[in-house]
Amino acid sequence: MAEASLESPQHRFDNRIEAEEKIEPKDWMPDGYRKNLIRQISQHAHSEVIGMQPEGNWLTRAPTLKRKCILLAKIQDEGGHGLYLYSAAETLGASREELVEALHTGHAKYASIFNYPTLTWADIGAIGWLVDGAAIVNQISLQSTSYGPYARAMVRICKEESFHQRQGYEIMVKLAEGNATQRAMAQDALDRWWWPSLMMFGPHDAESAHSAQSMRWKIKRQSNDDLRQKFVDQTVPQAEAIGLRIPDTKLVWNAARGHYDFGEIDWNEFNRVVSGNGLCNRQRLDHHKQAHEDGEWVRDALRAYAEKQA
Ligand code: 3HC
Repeated sequence: MAEASLESPQHRFDNRIEAEEKIEPKDWMPDGYRKNLIRQISQHAHSEVIGMQPEGNWLTRAPTLKRKCILLAKIQDEGGHGLYLYSAAETLGASREELVEALHTGHAKYASIFNYPTLTWADIGAIGWLVDGAAIVNQISLQSTSYGPYARAMVRICKEESFHQRQGYEIMVKLAEGNATQRAMAQDALDRWWWPSLMMFGPHDAESAHSAQSMRWKIKRQSNDDLRQKFVDQTVPQAEAIGLRIPDTKLVWNAARGHYDFGEIDWNEFNRVVSGNGLCNRQRLDHHKQAHEDGEWVRDALRAYAEKQA
């Protein structure tokens, strides 16, 4: 590619990225930078909204009123995160309709983790502890992403995610301190949610289609594998503290590395779920399409009101 001339917009953009300046909606940016951000931010938003479904499954069955209120607050937060992120994606010129259409037609992804069923109440604990825990590791890193609106959205979202992770871990603590049945329920949930949580960080760096360019543009600040390692290192002691066993026979502390060594993810499962053939993919998308259709009258009313005000 020809060297950008010193005065070209590309050169100025490159200098700003180098200088850790935030790129704002009205700034010049390469088309590829814009497209990559719309892709990642919209899929992040889709994940937040679809992620409301597995947890919503337990709203009417929470064991106490307190747990029901906490779960309700968390699910509402996730919906808000989705709207926040859709707004960030819209600053790049994408419309909400286009983004939702891409999700419904399978052209846009959402996090594979949300295609697993929530079979017991302990799953709600495991989701908060592991899924939100993994999301926090990723989203703290994204607070220093080069696109201004995305970075600022992450600051707000991370504050709420820490409440999500703590309430999930507290559920697991309570079950682990309970009777044998409750302890078994907590261990079963950890067994089913551990590996899909590691998949949230994406493929290995060497197989990542976007990482190299995303790192050059400082969209991604740490690699998939580095963030995954950080999550494992901080989560294993939390499991040990409550007497739960991580379902990985290869997990061992490597003093020389100062990290845990751990087994290999089942990438066949990852690819199966990401390509739409997970346990709940069809159910999740059908539910989203139905809810979108049911909400058409609200969008129509808002449009009519806005036209009347114009
Ligand atoms: N599920 C579904 N798709 C995944 C995936 C996963 N776990 N991991 C990677 N992919 C997809 C990527 O989207 C990309 O596909 P695409 O080109 O069609 O978009 C492909 O696999 C190759 O992966 P790459 O590593 O090259 O892609 P990225 O550079 O985008 O890295 C990512 C993947 C780390 C997930 C990055 O997109 C990211 O950091 N996204 C923002 C965070 C996010 O979306 N988290 C999802 C969960 S949100 C959440 O958990 C909410 C919480 O409140 C519960």
